Amino acid sequence: MEDLFFLDENDRVDGVAKVTGKAKYFAEFQLPGLVYGVLVTSTITKGKITAIDAKAANNAPGVLGILSHLNKPSVPAYEQEGGSPMKIFYTDQVFFNGQPIALVVADTFERATYAASLVKVSYEKASFNTDFEGSIKDPKAKKLQGQAPYKRGLEDAYKTAEVKIEATYTLPVETHNPMELHGIIADWGPNDKVTLYAKTQGVKSTQNTVANTFKIPAENIQVNSEFVGGGFGMALRTWPLEIAAVMASKQLKKPVKLVITRDQMFTMVGNRPASHQKIGLGASKDGKITGITHTAFGQGATYENFTEGVVNMSKFMYASENVNTNYYVVPLDMGVPIWMRGPGEATGAFALESAIDELAHALDMDPLDFRIKNDPETDLAQNRPFSSKYVKEAYRLGAAKIGWSNRKNKPGSLSDGPWQLGYGVSVGVFNASRGRASVKGILKADGTLVLQSATSDIGPGTGTGMTLIASRLMGLPVDKITFELGDSSLPPAPSQGGSATLSTVGSAVNDVCVSLKSTIAELAANSNMPATSNFVEVLKKNNLPMIEVTKQSQGSSEARNYSMYSFSIHFVQVKVHQTTGVVKVSKIVSVGDSGKIVSPKTARSQMIGGAVGGIGMALTEEAILDNRYGRYVNNNFADYHVPVNADVPDIDVIFIDKPDPVINPMGAKGMGEIALIGFSAAVANAVFNATGKRIRSLPITPDKIL
Ligand code: MOS
Repeated sequence: MEDLFFLDENDRVDGVAKVTGKAKYFAEFQLPGLVYGVLVTSTITKGKITAIDAKAANNAPGVLGILSHLNKPSVPAYEQEGGSPMKIFYTDQVFFNGQPIALVVADTFERATYAASLVKVSYEKASFNTDFEGSIKDPKAKKLQGQAPYKRGLEDAYKTAEVKIEATYTLPVETHNPMELHGIIADWGPNDKVTLYAKTQGVKSTQNTVANTFKIPAENIQVNSEFVGGGFGMALRTWPLEIAAVMASKQLKKPVKLVITRDQMFTMVGNRPASHQKIGLGASKDGKITGITHTAFGQGATYENFTEGVVNMSKFMYASENVNTNYYVVPLDMGVPIWMRGPGEATGAFALESAIDELAHALDMDPLDFRIKNDPETDLAQNRPFSSKYVKEAYRLGAAKIGWSNRKNKPGSLSDGPWQLGYGVSVGVFNASRGRASVKGILKADGTLVLQSATSDIGPGTGTGMTLIASRLMGLPVDKITFELGDSSLPPAPSQGGSATLSTVGSAVNDVCVSLKSTIAELAANSNMPATSNFVEVLKKNNLPMIEVTKQSQGSSEARNYSMYSFSIHFVQVKVHQTTGVVKVSKIVSVGDSGKIVSPKTARSQMIGGAVGGIGMALTEEAILDNRYGRYVNNNFADYHVPVNADVPDIDVIFIDKPDPVINPMGAKGMGEIALIGFSAAVANAVFNATGKRIRSLPITPDKIL
């Protein structure tokens, strides 16, 4: 059996564990005496809880306790006045429909579920507003500034351009739907020692949030999250429901497992906010962009603020002297949003990259030529050079691979039987960064290396990437290296988010390996061994079972002189059925300009996953809210459509694979976000090329085409 799982440079270090079921996800841990929590959620959208009748639930078999604001267990941070986040079970206020208002704990999940169904809640309803598009139309609508307005050159310069377009683009609420549901197992033991099995993108962040909320030392809290079944941004914060499970464990003195249901995934753990964006673009007749105006509105919540980078890309992606942007948040009576893969940038890219295509069409130019003509050499928003950027090369490589020369600039020119055929392109971009992380390395006389860091792996292959970095530096085969993560007791690292883990943690792995090698070289010299001696001989000669080093890596000051971004170019071919309006993405070529590729297999998988998410964003995903009731009507997988295998063609991935000279020793930039950013615009642009219909509102469903 073992031989079947031969591990080489092209495998995931945790692949075997994942495909054999050996990998344990948070909900699979069976602690002695484990009990189960099930949430009761509000059935009104706004107002006050006037009574909770829990008599029948309390008397139901197996019930151990019911938590609500009526018996709020002590949570020191919640007892302070004001502040965010929402204080679960500390208020009778209802802020959104589906808000957790009570937690029923029983000895089995089934009994907890049944008892939760017996809890009767009375409310005093208040009028509410969940209507995003309606709120934007109302000039009196309360709007928060999401980001300070930006301007370079003249405001609204597009208005006086020789050729101009002005258009509005809308995106619905999208819900993160990783296979693994959200939740936590909380075990509050004696002496305020707490063990958590969490679904989190940051074990240190979960540890700190729980420590700050319950005012206990962070060292008292052990967070375990070795395997995460998909995060996509949703697990970048500790949600109130997780605090509820910790409360329950503290009160009942038992480990409590709380896993929310699929429909609860739509309301209480964030979403990609709906957005409404207006873009004005102008160019000279020969195709030079002279003005970009981007105004965006994003959906928000009344009880907590959330902002993201919707208009970021418009500031620097094209060489326009005049750019101005605005971004507002519209607070509604809905659950607070959170980042969702590519986050605001993916939202902004749909609008900007659709608009660029519209302007190219108005100029009667090939949209690829138009982009290349307006590709800037430097970052005009921050007035400094890019650390590395191979966008023009990426355009050419992708165009050759998809067969861009087959495209006709006149829409509706190509067909294949009953299908109209078209091509589209879009660029994606996301900040490339390097934060601060610590890694410990233990080099052992048995010939193995153990690396440890409290980072996460939500799927991209962190362990694999780190192992490959170390393998190359140490000249050690990958099966001699173990990378331990997902454990808050390991050296601290940031949450896995914003495409920064490989850069941040990888830099510390680099520094650990460099240090271990120099220690071995010193030991060899001191014991008169040849410099080429391997570390096992050197450690044995020195009677050392192992050597250890911990390194903290952080961004270089040189980096401040550069703009660091990763870029992607997505090319798609679509087929649009002439009678049914069904859109099929028939070819995909995604080109990544993200520096040196450390781990080819997992990097390619990131791009494939991004494209699949992009198909969903472009064609099917839409959480539909009934504004009369403030409730989602398609909060399940039967009605909220994500792409399945049959929706996804073979995906070609090309990497520029040239090291970035500034960002880190590997020359590697992030790529989790760019895999998705821009993709939906490439699809919309291809649909236009196929049919002549410009769909400015995602998802592109058949009814919008016919
Ligand atoms: Mo990503 S949206 O930073 O998980």
